[in-house]
Amino acid sequence: MTPPAHGKPKACVIGWPVAHSRSPLIHRFWLDRLKIEGSYELATVAPAGFPAFVRDFVRQGFAGGNVTLPHKRTAFELCDVTTTTAAYLKVVNTLWIEAGKLCGDNTDAAGFAGALDQDAPGWDINFGTAVIIGAGGAARAIVYALKLRGMRRVFLINRTKERAAELASDFGPSIEVMDFADLPGVLAGANLLINTTSRGMRGQPPLAIDLSPLPPDAVVSDIVYVPLETALIRAAKARGHRAVSGVGMLLHQAVPGFERWFGMKPCVTPELRGVVEADIAAVV
Ligand code: ATR
Repeated sequence: MTPPAHGKPKACVIGWPVAHSRSPLIHRFWLDRLKIEGSYELATVAPAGFPAFVRDFVRQGFAGGNVTLPHKRTAFELCDVTTTTAAYLKVVNTLWIEAGKLCGDNTDAAGFAGALDQDAPGWDINFGTAVIIGAGGAARAIVYALKLRGMRRVFLINRTKERAAELASDFGPSIEVMDFADLPGVLAGANLLINTTSRGMRGQPPLAIDLSPLPPDAVVSDIVYVPLETALIRAAKARGHRAVSGVGMLLHQAVPGFERWFGMKPCVTPELRGVVEADIAAVV
């Protein structure tokens, strides 16, 4: 690989399509506030062109980039080096070049935990039981995050039960697969309830869950951020629960990439949150 064409660091988000991505808004905000002379671009790259695009990163002057659908699995396969988290999840959403090698991380787990740390501080103290709705890629990253934080037990409930069973089998006996019919019972002993499905997203039916069995100090989290406040988050707030909406995870998952590309750890400030929330609200 040849060195970058110029000294100003640049990064991008690679997807197909990618125009909807809010990563440019987030990273350009940080570049501006931290007065870094760098740039962050959108890279619309079809699957067939993705390996060549990434192999050409350095020559194009990129320090790295974010990877979104449908490239996250291929990105993992192309990496010379990955973090422990990415190796476990087999999916990469953040790429960078180090000593000429293509490196990859999955920052969704850190993003989830970072959002809860900020929006529901102390959530993992005496943390015992979580209930996760869904068993896709996001659920997998969140199970990983919860394990790192010392969670003792996770109940997994998914429309397609076999998919939940597959996820559970990758993590061991502390993950138990349940049915939707079991929800009242499992909620009664839960510290944390998380929706990782697309239910509640704009254009989708809400995730209709009776929260009344949930202990009052339980935290409710939803990874959906369009709309900013889902019916689940609204219902949780109405019952007095601490509720963490999906925008926090979106913002926090961006932190590690920015730090790697531009050399400064950015903060998820109320101002940044306001900018991103305004952008989301404008399209709803
Ligand atoms: P992601 O990477 O965002 O997790 P995914 O891997 O496609 O996306 O997973 C989506 C999750 O949302 C899955 O758990 C999916 O359930 P299935 O495994 O049964 O497909 C869940 N999901 C999507 N639409 C849903 C719906 N209308 N009702 C219930 N669950 C739904």
